[in-house]
Amino acid sequence: MAREIRKVGVVGLGTMGAGIAQVCVQGGVEVVGCEVSAELGERAAERIGHFLTRAVEKGRMEQADRDAAMGRVRLTTELGDLAGCDLVIEAAFEDLDVKRELFAELDRLVGDDAILATNTSALSVTEIAAATERPERVVGMHFFNPAPLMALVEIVRTELTADEVFDAAYAFAERVGKTPIRCHDTPGFVVNRVLIPLLNDCVRVLDEARVTPEDLDKGMKHGAGWPMGPCELVDLVGIDIHIHASEALYAALREPRMAPPPRLVRMAQAGLLGRKTGSGFYTYDE
Ligand code: CAA
Repeated sequence: MAREIRKVGVVGLGTMGAGIAQVCVQGGVEVVGCEVSAELGERAAERIGHFLTRAVEKGRMEQADRDAAMGRVRLTTELGDLAGCDLVIEAAFEDLDVKRELFAELDRLVGDDAILATNTSALSVTEIAAATERPERVVGMHFFNPAPLMALVEIVRTELTADEVFDAAYAFAERVGKTPIRCHDTPGFVVNRVLIPLLNDCVRVLDEARVTPEDLDKGMKHGAGWPMGPCELVDLVGIDIHIHASEALYAALREPRMAPPPRLVRMAQAGLLGRKTGSGFYTYDE
């Protein structure tokens, strides 16, 4: 019998972690959010508060529901405070060693029947799980950016993930209003396996066809029905994040289309990382 997921730990409250925490508290679940500093934790809570306030302003949420959701957020800088969580979703920096260290520590801290999930987008869930003594209770839960707006969550199993854990992660994603899909641990899982090389092709076509980012974005929005253009999307995801995912897929699959296009690498070297730095393919005010 699967343990009921009442309290969720979220490790790392950057864009993805804060978005995942928002999804959980909006879905009625208690969250303990862990960041390396109190300041970063506060910043994430402010971000969640801001989006929930916007929802109230737009008449999509009652003020009382907003306040109740914010009341479900608890912040900490101590991993030990996640000890009572039924599920911990890790959304830390995309570095295998960092994640393996975190999982080894979480493994020692949480209850025996707790589930450990990683939001990695391009690293191996199997290698992360191998840092624990409970690989059967480790699963991938890959949310998409921006997590509160994107319906999809990829539920990723390794060869060792227990059926009950896989099903519990799937059911939890549904419970907080998401549309989960099931897959096995392979490089890029499902969506990034397709989307990363596609976005890389989009960047290469900028130089090949001498098309502007504006026109390429118009092309993909109005000719292929994308909700936002590829240049806007890479700016949203973060050019460094996209490069990192491309490199991880290229290392695993050795397909030339997976390798980050030199144009993107030069942009990253110049500090043009997209929205978060105020400029990428486009410039941003906020
Ligand atoms: N971030 C941003 N907005 C949020 C939010 C959050 N965390 N939480 C709530 N919101 C609210 C905002 O308040 C905003 O409303 P206001 O502007 O009124 O304040 C609202 O949501 C945004 O609504 P929009 O009307 O702007 O939404 P939209 O209809 O333009 O759709 C979109 C936005 C859903 C992002 C859409 O453009 C889209 O689907 N884009 C594609 C995104 C995509 O492909 N993401 C996947 C990236 S790849 C990835 O994530 C994989 C990986 O591993 C790297």
